[in-house]
Amino acid sequence: MKIIHISAECYPIAKVGGLADVVGALPKYQNSAGTSSQVVMPFYINKFTQAHKFKTVHEGHLKIGKDSQVFRILTPENEDFGFELYLVDIPDLLFTEYVYSENDTERFLAFQIAVLDWIIQNKQLPDIIHCHDHHTGLIPFMMSHINKYKKLKNTPSVFTIHNAQYQGWFSHDKIDLIPTFPLSHIGLLDWDNSINPLATAIKCAWQVTTVSPSYMEELKVKANGLESLISSESQKCSGILNGIDTKVWDPETDDMIASKYGISNCDSGKQASKDWLCEKFGLDPEKPLFVFIGRLVEEKGADLFYEVFELALKDLDISILLLGSGNKTYEEQLKQLTGKYPKKYNAFIGYDEVLSHKMYAGGDFLLMPSRVEPCGLNQMYSLRYGTIPIVNKIGGLKDTVLDISEGGFGFLHTDNTVTGIYKSIKRATQFYSDSSKLKETRKVIMKIDHSWDASAEKYINLYKSLIQYS
Ligand code: ADP
Ligand code: GLC
Repeated sequence: MKIIHISAECYPIAKVGGLADVVGALPKYQNSAGTSSQVVMPFYINKFTQAHKFKTVHEGHLKIGKDSQVFRILTPENEDFGFELYLVDIPDLLFTEYVYSENDTERFLAFQIAVLDWIIQNKQLPDIIHCHDHHTGLIPFMMSHINKYKKLKNTPSVFTIHNAQYQGWFSHDKIDLIPTFPLSHIGLLDWDNSINPLATAIKCAWQVTTVSPSYMEELKVKANGLESLISSESQKCSGILNGIDTKVWDPETDDMIASKYGISNCDSGKQASKDWLCEKFGLDPEKPLFVFIGRLVEEKGADLFYEVFELALKDLDISILLLGSGNKTYEEQLKQLTGKYPKKYNAFIGYDEVLSHKMYAGGDFLLMPSRVEPCGLNQMYSLRYGTIPIVNKIGGLKDTVLDISEGGFGFLHTDNTVTGIYKSIKRATQFYSDSSKLKETRKVIMKIDHSWDASAEKYINLYKSLIQYS
């Protein structure tokens, strides 16, 4: 079975968030289960692409509105990702270090057109086209309704919503950028008087998935304007929980952490990582260490952090270490807090993959008070590294964390306010003082299997069910 995954991000080539981790792992696990899964993504000028060699497998011209753009399809030389990787190089549009920027409508439209132009001239067509998030949302429409791509009319398309907050809206003024289609289909592109690639994908893909079952249910009630659409298309919608790449995220083999550890020596291994972090960031290794890693946006609860941290740092004998970037106001607030609580709190504002591994390993608790969390990978990484998650009971967090009071291994709250989050931190601090329980829980969570095996199989079964109707 030949599957093409199409995405704006893929780890380790270009990563902004969890989308990259998923697209860099799922195809690998699918291939281990016997498929031929490939990834197609844009070619950005970044550290990774500058450090690797690529060869050109195809060259063409694409039309976007009145413009004609040269594009090339590149593949890395001598690199094994566990899947074939193709990068779409459109020098005038994608040639930037940023995955996302201001002219994303043009950039991702050109990307989608180039991908389809390339696929249809290949000898072997795919059995499945699997698109991820709104940057690839017009592909299912173009496959079904644009004459040029009629070869793909019977190829099933799967669309995965990683985050419905972002929909890729653009105005009808730009409609001419889309290759010519019968005007009777305009309704498939429109949602609330805008062109909405996410809505179009939900209407046109053969199947729509979200990255956790609970998030699919939540979208029927709250989906940034798309609730009625999700509800009316619900017969072709399902939620499949993300997995994690247990080869990349493995404290026993992780070269990025201070000292590797397994279940049997997790306490000493974690302590070594905690000591490293505390030394580096001026914190006390004897105190429980709470870490946050992520985008500083309201979705992740970042607007509440200053107040929550201030309250917790004043009242409790704990340390907090934050790694993140995003909204400048929150970045500024969170930097300022370092001056107020220098020995109890520190923040690294920026993006640092290596530091994130060290923090999953060295933290005692991971904070994740997200308002919206379609799946969330951080809590699954933290479980694998023996770090206890503290989460808001929503979306994928609800599907992966069970509260300690219910025989589980984490701290969940439903009141995701300053007081609610503070109470969870307080509960966790009390829990920390019972070292035998703490040690026992670490061992329990490190054993939980969140690898992609089960979910990769679920996607394969979904593809099979579609292929039989193609
Ligand atoms: P989202 O995709 O919504 O940001 P996820 O939990 O799915 O959330 O995935 C976030 C991914 O990005 C994880 O791999 C996390 O470790 C990583 N990450 C987020 N912010 C940073 C940062 N500042 N530095 C390093 N890694 C980060
Ligand atoms: C999105 C979501 C996150 C999810 C990730 C990977 O970025 O916000 O919850 O884990 O995609 O699917």
